[in-house]
Amino acid sequence: MKRVLLALALSVPLAASAEEAAKDLFVKGDAAAGATKAAVCGACHGPTGNGSAPNFPKLAGQSSKYIYEQLTAFKSGARVNPVMSGQAAALSDQDMKDLAVHFASLKPQPGVASKDAVATVGKLYRAGDAARGIPACASCHGPVGAGNPSTGYPRIGGQNAQYAAVSLQRLHDTKTESLPEGNVKMMATIAAKLSDKEIEALASYLNGLQ
Ligand code: HEC
Ligand code: HEC
Repeated sequence: MKRVLLALALSVPLAASAEEAAKDLFVKGDAAAGATKAAVCGACHGPTGNGSAPNFPKLAGQSSKYIYEQLTAFKSGARVNPVMSGQAAALSDQDMKDLAVHFASLKPQPGVASKDAVATVGKLYRAGDAARGIPACASCHGPVGAGNPSTGYPRIGGQNAQYAAVSLQRLHDTKTESLPEGNVKMMATIAAKLSDKEIEALASYLNGLQ
């Protein structure tokens, strides 16, 4: 038992912060190798991982667990997108881990929320809407949308508004009945309760969240 614990302790690389350590606990990747492999991703996700255009998601500072899970989902077909399915098909499991750890280590750049958006959905984000069974977004994604590296709840603060709207709409339209219990079902159940107006406002709100 002691030996197992020691082996576990040794396998955790020394990290600069507790947050870094938490990421490394879940995805065993090599950030330097990931940086080399990410050259092809930069065309769309940007050289700094902040998206080369507003329709491409920012990956900088994203939870490595979430990135790894999404890449495996694109490869298996559980998440469908014509562009990303093709990209993920060529990646090995180790490639995905290296890429996940690389992008998680980059610095996210925040955007700006419209005043209207803050007025429309600021309260929904912070406190939810009990009458409609919508929990506070902040309860899972955190007060500034930084996500939770250990559970793989994604960073959504600073996300590109155009992509965030597409992503919320995709989750809104996902049929939950046949999904296994897990992260996708959890978020799709919440997104299903959002109106078009709220999705649009949330997308702008998230872009400005930092
Ligand atoms: C030609 C453009 C393009 C390239 C190249 C590309 N991506 Fe993407 N990526 C996209 C688009 C578009 C989406 C959004 C898909 C959707 O709407 O579901 C996406 C989504 C993702 C997501 C999910 C993000 C989220 O927040 O859920 C991850 C992770 C990702 N890409 C990683 C990569 C990696 C790693 C590479 C390089 C191996 C890469 N992508 C190359 C266009 C691209
Ligand atoms: C119970 C926890 C929980 C709550 C509450 C929650 N989310 Fe999520 N959210 C998740 C998880 C987990 C995922 C990742 C789902 C997956 O694996 O595809 C997610 C995904 C997302 C995404 C997609 C991220 C991306 O990169 O594509 C957005 C946007 C989002 N949530 C916004 C919200 C908003 C807005 C609210 C409040 C109305 C909210 N979430 C409430 C857990 C939660």
